[in-house]
Amino acid sequence: MKVSQIRQAYLDYFAQKGHQIVPSSPVVPGDDPTLLFTNAGMNQFKDVFLGFDKRSYSRATSAQKCIRAGGKHNDLDNVGYTARHHTFFEMLGNFSFGDYFKQEAIGFAWELLTEVFKLPKDKLLVTIYAEDDEAFEIWNKQIGVPAERIIRIGDNKGGRYASDNFWMMGDTGPCGPCTEIFYDHGEHIAGGPPGSPDEDGDRYIEIWNNVFMQFNRDEAGNMHPLPKPSVDTGMGLERIAAVLQQVHSNYEIDLFVNLLKAAKEAVDGAGAENCDATSPSLKVIADHIRACSFIVVDGVIPGNAGRGYVLRRIARRAIRHGYKLGARKPFFYQLVPALVKEMGEAYPELLAAKDKVSEVIKQEEERFFQTIANGMEILEAALVGGTKTVDGDTAFRLHDTFGFPLDLTADVCRERNVAVDAAGFESAMQKQRDQARASGKFKVAQGLEYAGKPTQFHGYDTLNHEGAIVTALYLDGSTVQSVKAGDAVVVVLDNTPFYAESGGQIGDQGELRNETMRFAVADTFKIQADVFGHQGEMLEGEIKVGDVLAASVNVEHRAEVMRNHSATHILHKALREILGDHVQQKGSLVDANKTRFDFTHNAPISATELRQIESIVNTEILANTATSGKVMSLDDAQKTGAMMLFGEKYGDEVRVLEIGTSKELCGGTHVSRTGDIGSLKIVSEGGVAAGIRRVEAVTGKHALSFLQAMEDQIGQAAAILKTHPADLVNRVTQLQESLRQAERELDKANSKLASSQGDELATQAVDVNGIKVLAARINGADAQVLRETMDALKAKLKTAVIVLASVQGDKVSLIAGVTADTIAKVKAGDLVNFVAQQVGGKGGGKPEMAMAGGTEPGQLGQALASVKDWVAGK
Ligand code: ALA
Repeated sequence: MKVSQIRQAYLDYFAQKGHQIVPSSPVVPGDDPTLLFTNAGMNQFKDVFLGFDKRSYSRATSAQKCIRAGGKHNDLDNVGYTARHHTFFEMLGNFSFGDYFKQEAIGFAWELLTEVFKLPKDKLLVTIYAEDDEAFEIWNKQIGVPAERIIRIGDNKGGRYASDNFWMMGDTGPCGPCTEIFYDHGEHIAGGPPGSPDEDGDRYIEIWNNVFMQFNRDEAGNMHPLPKPSVDTGMGLERIAAVLQQVHSNYEIDLFVNLLKAAKEAVDGAGAENCDATSPSLKVIADHIRACSFIVVDGVIPGNAGRGYVLRRIARRAIRHGYKLGARKPFFYQLVPALVKEMGEAYPELLAAKDKVSEVIKQEEERFFQTIANGMEILEAALVGGTKTVDGDTAFRLHDTFGFPLDLTADVCRERNVAVDAAGFESAMQKQRDQARASGKFKVAQGLEYAGKPTQFHGYDTLNHEGAIVTALYLDGSTVQSVKAGDAVVVVLDNTPFYAESGGQIGDQGELRNETMRFAVADTFKIQADVFGHQGEMLEGEIKVGDVLAASVNVEHRAEVMRNHSATHILHKALREILGDHVQQKGSLVDANKTRFDFTHNAPISATELRQIESIVNTEILANTATSGKVMSLDDAQKTGAMMLFGEKYGDEVRVLEIGTSKELCGGTHVSRTGDIGSLKIVSEGGVAAGIRRVEAVTGKHALSFLQAMEDQIGQAAAILKTHPADLVNRVTQLQESLRQAERELDKANSKLASSQGDELATQAVDVNGIKVLAARINGADAQVLRETMDALKAKLKTAVIVLASVQGDKVSLIAGVTADTIAKVKAGDLVNFVAQQVGGKGGGKPEMAMAGGTEPGQLGQALASVKDWVAGK
């Protein structure tokens, strides 16, 4: 049986036993702040177990996408090292909401395993919660499992109810004792039965957990009985597939065989050439692509906190394993098509989002591939010489500067039997936080003292400078004479091509080196107006004050920043041209990815204006004119008519920058011809404060990526609507029209339904002193249906007093109506109020027609029955 057939066979079995098949909920729980990710099939039914929510069914079955990485149930560290742990897996489950309990649950499980899946009975053994004699009796007496194959597990995890056989969703929520079914993979595999010292081996594998939901655990740890005892079960699809396909490891089932093949191909294509097909690293990659893809499908992108950080950790762990096999460029995203092939049919949301998933993963890979090589070098250096522990400072530096999550570092160390000082990592992290708090903003620049020669900047003309001399060194904010490999430092040079952050342009990155040392520059900033600090990491060797070295700026990074900076000047000019001369720069940030420009203006910029502004800028770019930067006195600069920023302090000497028709004072670095910018695309416009607007724009290859992403989105939307992008607007208009049409038809159908219900209800009216009295409940009716039915009934019954009610959840809706010839005697407002009070509400209205609501549906029957006597008493 293939994985897809097993999934279906399970659902079919339970459907045939009266269970509703419910689709998987997203892996990101929509409304449960206690959960990072969906970790079990029961999550989407949590409120049903607790009695807060009711469904139209009391038995359900599902195949649920689950993530167990981060939070209470976390398997991340085990993936790749065992035959059966995954960050993502599918949980097959059957659920009873106050319907059947232990006996039937156990019966179903046994029948499915031994009769449908035909597993040999002597290969199965079970565990029960030590105190659960009832479960023991069922297994032993009714099912016939011998007593020696029923293992009692007590509170084995250090606390009351802390047990492998007492399942809890999280620290709070529904929980209860459980019985687990294990499969014996055979003597040839190491491991002991559950409860034995060797239980963590791979011989006896838990395949199915049946939880008898009985309690709700509150934050204080108290157990409250649930309204009704219920059942929640979970069977790992991958594990049962391994059993049924007679393989021992989950990674040998059909789905994983295909993913592993795709993983090998992608890694080989990215530089590994012919990696070992049996490497555990390929398993990690095949596992992680599932978790990453399904998390992205649900709208999470990699980030530094919460779910985004879990995603980043999983993705980077996969990338590191690819790197270990020899991949030197993005490969992980290339597994997405193979995954879609395996799982796209069962989970159409994956198919619909496949392009987005590839793109998001690829971007994360591109980012991490920039730092992974240097990070691995640092880590390798820390691992040489038989060390037993990697210290916390190194682990933190890897995290902070090279983007290595702690568990990634731990993963590498584990391969070498080396520990990581996690406590030391935490304290290094805390130290940085404290420093950041103390200085308001974390930048080593603050408070560095310097009394040497100023730095000469050469970066307008060159990106390499040979023969620079180290004039000062800092370590953790203090002056030092030398630093060795691995230290986080700031280097001051007498001459440099590195641009130091100023005027909104971020600092340069690059490398300092000579024959004996290498230093990676992550940022450049000004310690004083003319003293430049190069902040970064020693990669190799030692650096001393007085050393001579070559300084090389990262060319690609600088080129991207320059494109954005030059484009900002042209943009500024264009904004003034289109919006008016009141536009003044209020702030800007130019980095390698984008330019962000804040300026004075009172109203949103219209789409037409944005187009005009973009056109002006792109026309200047296409003109491909040479730019120029000339240093002159402030007086002379003023004479050129160059734009100066109001309130800005300038020195006596300034630099006048001409780019196309824009002329501004600026110390930044710029492209030599406008055409170098490539093109500019504005990506957002909005207000940041009263009278201040912000535009963000991208240039060069980022403009292209932006348009391509847009195109993908349009393509996806068109594919979902089964049309071509060019016809999208037409198609959406048509759909809206047919939706309106459908709504009109629904209205008509509702009125028709109301009048036919009216006909039927009319026969239930009773005569009270010559008045027809009717009090009835209409299931599922909304306010409009209630009103229309009321009108139909009044027309039919002529002289009548009518109350209609409907219940949705806990809400009761009521309407009362009295025909015109009877209002002298009975008022609809009084009547509705009389009924509403009995169902926990109140209301009122006109004599002919009045509405009300209530909150106690349980009282409704009695309340409606009381209407007859009430009318009789009038
Ligand atoms: N909710 C139970 C589990 O996850 C079935 O094991």
